[in-house]
Amino acid sequence: MFSPNFSQMDWSISWDESYLNAYKEVFRALCLIPILHYVIAFMVIWVVFLYNFLEFHFFQDFFSGFRGAPVALTFHPTSHIYHGVVSKCKILHGRYLATPWLSSPHFQTTFLNFFGNPPAFSYRRQLFHASDGGTIALDWLTSSDISRGAFEVNHTISKEDTTPLVVVIPGLTSDSTSSYIKHLAFGLAKHGWNVVVSNHRGLGGVSITSDCFYNAGWTEDARVVIDYLHHQYPKAPLFAIGTSIGANILVKYLGEDREKVPVAGAVAICSPWDLLIGDRFICRRLLQKLYDRALTIGLQGYAKLHEPRYSLLANWEGIRKSRSIRDFDNFATCLVGKFETVDTYYRRSTSTPYVLNVSVPLLCISALDDPVCTREAIPWDECRANKNIVLATIKHGGHLAFFEGITGSRLWWVRATDEFLGVLHSSSHMHKKKSRRHQSNHRLIRVLM
Ligand SMILES: *[C@@H]1O[C@H](CO)[C@@H](O)[C@H](O)[C@H]1NC(C)=O
Ligand SMILES: *[C@@H]1O[C@H](CO)[C@@H](O)[C@H](O)[C@H]1NC(C)=O
Repeated sequence: MFSPNFSQMDWSISWDESYLNAYKEVFRALCLIPILHYVIAFMVIWVVFLYNFLEFHFFQDFFSGFRGAPVALTFHPTSHIYHGVVSKCKILHGRYLATPWLSSPHFQTTFLNFFGNPPAFSYRRQLFHASDGGTIALDWLTSSDISRGAFEVNHTISKEDTTPLVVVIPGLTSDSTSSYIKHLAFGLAKHGWNVVVSNHRGLGGVSITSDCFYNAGWTEDARVVIDYLHHQYPKAPLFAIGTSIGANILVKYLGEDREKVPVAGAVAICSPWDLLIGDRFICRRLLQKLYDRALTIGLQGYAKLHEPRYSLLANWEGIRKSRSIRDFDNFATCLVGKFETVDTYYRRSTSTPYVLNVSVPLLCISALDDPVCTREAIPWDECRANKNIVLATIKHGGHLAFFEGITGSRLWWVRATDEFLGVLHSSSHMHKKKSRRHQSNHRLIRVLM
């Protein structure tokens, strides 16, 4: 007469009631906590989330006593460039500590692009005309511009001058006015060297004057400018520095021309190395997509400056609607540069296959937390296999930033580069060009500003 169904029902009813009561009790208890405490708890969780999301390392730096992270050097065990040059560089054997209020790669990179604390000076402009009719703006800053002030300077460098000359190849959509380029140019000129920034075609305020645009694998402009500078100033040791896309172009050029380059030594800063890996990386996470958007807006700004020619050679509607670098490359770079697909363009323009063939002393600097050029693409094996290369990797630094000092007025990589080139210049390891290239016949107009 006692059915099991009834007992089950009784049990479930009493259980329902007891847990409902428990929830009511908890709710009542939670209501007793002042709202302010909730606000504080929410803010703490939000701050912890942001700290991790933006990859802050302030507490890491704090608990290590603000000593910074050591620089990791990768090289061949018998590398003469390591043993003869880099082993004497104090900065590359030291540590890097980020400016405390910029201890996040995203803060560093953003700060560099919006403020950057650049030194104040102006360049002198020279227009270089390539044989295809293209125009390249060369922006000069000589050591005498800095040491003697702009007014009493003799603007010409003599053919016999033996002052080292550094040619700088900027990154994508950057030119000589970008903060990091100004930091670099000023630092080197202050050291007593002559600096020339080789702006990409269509940048630095000059028009596109032929149907040729620059792209990430376009090494011909670097080649003709470097040949010209070597021809013009044969006694001056010539060094080359590439940053970001400029580093990709520089390394590819050094690998293509090997012994023939008239470059005594080179530095590659924050190179993307492998454009295919870079492309996959930049559309993976939310934060990277923001960088992708920002760079695309920069590219669209560049395209807008040269709209008539882009409208003729590329898909203007597509360029206007591009939401990513990949879109832009699809509608612009591939059509102008005659690549079948975007991935074909990336594969052919990537510099990693050329790393093994670099025949001049080359220092590469990359940050492991670079939010634009991922560490996944760094060619560790190739750098270790080539005796001419030393690869310096640092845990923090962001993209081209490496701010240091409490005011964030200096960039660590600029100091490291300056020291490396100085030691290389006073060593017996500078590269000497082996065979003479045919001198291309480009016209030249000098415009002094
Ligand atoms: C400027 O330098 C050039 C080349 O070194 C030299 O011929 C010229 O006399 C110099 N001019 C002055 C005013 O110093
Ligand atoms: C590097 O040099 C080797 C040997 O000369 C050559 O076979 C190879 O094609 C070169 N690599 C590239 C990417 O040009």
